[in-house]
Amino acid sequence: MCGICGVVGHRPATPIVFEGLRRLEYRGYDSAGIATLDAQQRITRCRASGKLDNLAEALKETPLTGTTAIGHTRWATHGAPTTNNAHPHKAGKVAIVHNGIIENYAELRQKLQKNGREFKTETDSETVAHLLDEELKRGLSPKDAAYATIRQLEGAYAVAMIFEDHEGLLIGARHGAPLAIGFGEGEMFLGSDSLALAPLSQRITYLDDGDWCVLHADSVTIYDATGSEVQRPVQTVALTAGQIGKDGYRHFMEKELHEHPVAIGQTLQRMMDPVTRRITLPDMPFDPADLPRATITACGSAFYAGMVGRYWLESLARLPVDIDVASELRYRNPPQPNQGMALLISQSGETADTLGVLRALKAENQRIVSILNVEQSTMGRESDLVLGMVAGPEISVASTKAFTAQLSVLAALTITFARKRGTLDEAQEQKLTQSLLDLPSHAATVLGLFDAIRKMARIIAQARDVLYLGRGICMPIAQEGALKLKEISYIHAEAYAAGELKHGPISLIDPSVPVVAIAPSTILFEKMLSNLQEAKARGGLILAFTDAQGAKRLEGIADHMVVLPDVDAFVAPILYTIPVQILAYEVALLKGTDVDQPRNLAKSVTVE
Ligand code: F6R
Repeated sequence: MCGICGVVGHRPATPIVFEGLRRLEYRGYDSAGIATLDAQQRITRCRASGKLDNLAEALKETPLTGTTAIGHTRWATHGAPTTNNAHPHKAGKVAIVHNGIIENYAELRQKLQKNGREFKTETDSETVAHLLDEELKRGLSPKDAAYATIRQLEGAYAVAMIFEDHEGLLIGARHGAPLAIGFGEGEMFLGSDSLALAPLSQRITYLDDGDWCVLHADSVTIYDATGSEVQRPVQTVALTAGQIGKDGYRHFMEKELHEHPVAIGQTLQRMMDPVTRRITLPDMPFDPADLPRATITACGSAFYAGMVGRYWLESLARLPVDIDVASELRYRNPPQPNQGMALLISQSGETADTLGVLRALKAENQRIVSILNVEQSTMGRESDLVLGMVAGPEISVASTKAFTAQLSVLAALTITFARKRGTLDEAQEQKLTQSLLDLPSHAATVLGLFDAIRKMARIIAQARDVLYLGRGICMPIAQEGALKLKEISYIHAEAYAAGELKHGPISLIDPSVPVVAIAPSTILFEKMLSNLQEAKARGGLILAFTDAQGAKRLEGIADHMVVLPDVDAFVAPILYTIPVQILAYEVALLKGTDVDQPRNLAKSVTVE
């Protein structure tokens, strides 16, 4: 959600920042811009609405020189996505880029306007530029002005600032939105995440919340919120070109769909004792046998993964679970058991809603266990225990492989809890573990079904509305399918528990509203069959994902079927995720939408 990149060094800075923005574009693509200090140490800017390609064109008209630069790719919150509202914002002798929301901007703006400051944009971010320039005008040094400025800000921010007449100086600050420093040879970088910094530097320091930093080409000084100098660890991040590129695929989403087997396999491998071949998770900050209850929270797809986790934990580990989307749980204020467990799920580890719940629950003495793809993220640093998935960078805005990796961790967690709570005997445990170990190869088989799924996609692409049906543990997979379709093809889709159809939504059924059923023969199949027959009797067009046995029973009911390998009911939700995501991808291709960067969206949503 908004990407920031900055450099201070000895080489022309614009191409470096531009390429950094390319790697950050998944965080927002409403507009983009770069500001540099030119040979006279004056700020020059180039900005463009829309995607980075527009900025590339604009840069041909307005080339920027200089070795100190900041850049930004925007997901609009305050102010329309116009060139005028694009970052960097300039006021007097400073330029800034900002990710987040300045919650007290209206009040600050009014104060600044009373002092004669003229605002040129509708953004909250411009306030930061004016405040900074105002502090400079009061005679403060850039460093002191930066500190004085951030102390006045409320809300969430990651900011990068450059100053006229101060070539070779770049200042960054973060509170509630991520920012990292990359160490180069005679140059330093700022970036919203390690992806931006990856080809530039393998040595990265993540700023803690409240930190701010002063970068010169050959030095870095970090301060905390009290203004005291602090040391933060330098981590080695080795992302390969293959991990951050498309690797020959047309879209990141296509590449990431093909990475399901590896993401599942690597994630499970990490949680498995190689000698006993038993699932073994790191020591918990509590004894799972003593837990009275657990809370699960997340947003979007990660929330649906949590819903599957609830089914598993309740049915197999007999652990009662309270689950809600983070933006609701945050303000619902349910009573929590003393020293209970809160399980948070997030690909990015930066989602503001989920992070807000983490902090609220921590304040209520809950032990925080997070399932994360980016383990060095803010959530990772603030959790009591991180269960890392090994999905690799996920760049397409719509989540794919992170979802099956999240489910793999949740399955492993369930087996561990069930063993410790005495609800699973050894034979059952072995059976479940084996079904997990077989999954990567079944997932690879499903990747061979693109052609069959494309036939279904042709029907869906004609529709205005689509219903997804699932039952039990496959209900969240129906929800994931509907979300993915909405997100990237812009076709309206809703997911219903199939048994709920007759309580209302069945009135929507006619031949123009395809019904997509997630129907493995192992999970409440007879009930699902009856529900599909009810839909069929009313002229519904039934498209089913099932297995060989299910396919026999669905003959004459389903108009189209995609037949998946037979798997144990335990892992069916993981396997059935893959074809519903492929379906959305294929529909999006037919509709010609922007698959990796769907309209209005951004990855890593760092605002509430
Ligand atoms: C859907 C999608 C989003 C994310 C949600 C949570 O395809 O990508 O719904 O799942 O924004 O993001 P994380 O997992 O980063 O917290």
